[in-house]
Amino acid sequence: MFRCNFISFHALYSIEREKFMTQYTSTNDERESKLQREYMDRAAVYVAELGQRLGRRPRCCVTTFGCQMNARDSEKLLGILTQIGYESVEAEEDADFVIYNTCTVRDNADRRVYGRLGFLGSLKSKKPHMKIALCGCMMQEAGVVEKIRKSYRFVDLVFGTHNIFKFAELMVTMFENREMIVDIWQETDKIVEELPVSRKYPYKSGINIMFGCNNFCSYCIVPYVRGRERSRDPKEILREIERLADDGVVEVMLLGQNVNSYGKSLPEPISFARLLREVEQIDGLKRIRFMTSHPKDLSDELIEVMRRSDKICRHLHLPLQSGSDRILRAMNRRYTKDQYLALTEKLKRAMPDIAITTDLIVGFPGETPEDVDETIDVVRRVRYDNAFTFIYSKRTGTPAAAMENQVPEAVVREGFDRLLKVVQDTARERAALLKGRVMEALVEEVNEQDRSLMTGRLSNNMLVHFPADESQIGRLVKVSLDECRGFYYTGRIVP
Ligand code: SAH
Ligand code: SF4
Ligand code: F3S
Repeated sequence: MFRCNFISFHALYSIEREKFMTQYTSTNDERESKLQREYMDRAAVYVAELGQRLGRRPRCCVTTFGCQMNARDSEKLLGILTQIGYESVEAEEDADFVIYNTCTVRDNADRRVYGRLGFLGSLKSKKPHMKIALCGCMMQEAGVVEKIRKSYRFVDLVFGTHNIFKFAELMVTMFENREMIVDIWQETDKIVEELPVSRKYPYKSGINIMFGCNNFCSYCIVPYVRGRERSRDPKEILREIERLADDGVVEVMLLGQNVNSYGKSLPEPISFARLLREVEQIDGLKRIRFMTSHPKDLSDELIEVMRRSDKICRHLHLPLQSGSDRILRAMNRRYTKDQYLALTEKLKRAMPDIAITTDLIVGFPGETPEDVDETIDVVRRVRYDNAFTFIYSKRTGTPAAAMENQVPEAVVREGFDRLLKVVQDTARERAALLKGRVMEALVEEVNEQDRSLMTGRLSNNMLVHFPADESQIGRLVKVSLDECRGFYYTGRIVP
């Protein structure tokens, strides 16, 4: 009887899944993905020729400068590079082809790229066959390409965020020409699936569920360099995760600038919570994470799906940016301090063990020390498990850059230090609460400082270090949290 019920449940589930998989119109541009695979074959011929000249397999190095989405793009670039015959290496010095996947969210990201480009130029002068490509968000910014053309003439290829799928085609053009190849698109509506990806970790993976952003927070350059919000077809997402799970991936991180608005612009709209429910059903998958959530779009449906799930991790990254209503309005964040606090209370009521983390900005135009006090007040009340605290960086072309009341550096520094202290104290207090608990950790990697230890990640995103060996990587183990070392733990595996 029980068995019979079990079978019929599965049959029912298969029908449901079948219905789900046929309901949505594919967003994949199949023609383009076929064309790009042809270009990969052509590029492979050039790589093989180079290999013959060098007497070894040509080496490549992709350096990531930005966020998780940038890192995922790097995995796609590396997927194409290894497919056409390159061997991936860690050090730029050892590579015959170096690709900088850039970020431009704050000014220091741009400066790091320019700084390191000088070094790449000197490497290339000793190794004339070396190729250099620049791509990513910074390339979409006005003025950057002109500067590269003028001051960094040794660069071979420049492309942007919208045409990354064309990487193989662009490489063919690069191999067939001597001058710098530049291809930057202002926008795209294309989503090209089924190109190779080379994952950094065998057991966990990021998955793009959407691209771009429509929010236009007044300080932020992302909507200008990543374009309008576009959601991927849910079928394609599920198929990709199913393939990953078959390949040994136990944890996925669903990626988007604002995952809470996933699916709203699809021909057949679907909510993010519904997508999560489908992802949860995938066999073999043990943990689901997502980022980033915009507070204005976080639904009760999502909280409920999280609460009921034992695969969705007990962690939510919920950027606050500022606790001052006046500043939040000027930032165009579209929530108030009270609305944000009510939301975090609701989350904690539903899931008392949830870890909440955030992003904070100090020094937005017009911000006073009293506004910083408001931000500190929210930190004290929410008691964040962790918070990234940034100094406001003026990004040309954003509304905030044109605001007249930019805050003097000394005032920003004072506010930043004050806020950081509270953030750190709160995070330490939160971490200490877990002492003595036994929790499940995903074994991720060998500890850099002490190679007899492995580093694991708890569902709430906290790290714990414990004696174990490399064969445990990718497994979920129960760990006793023995000693709190500020923001992380040391412990031991328990049966
Ligand atoms: N889409 C995500 C985050 C994108 S950028 C979100 O909305 O939360 C990551 C973080 O960088 C932001 O949360 C913000 O805190 C910070 N940031 C963005 N633009 C910035 C700027 N001009 N100066 C300082 N920090 C900035
Ligand atoms: Fe930037 Fe705001 Fe979009 Fe996040 S939601 S990427 S901060 S514009
Ligand atoms: Fe990410 Fe930086 Fe671009 S944060 S979206 S890589 S500007």
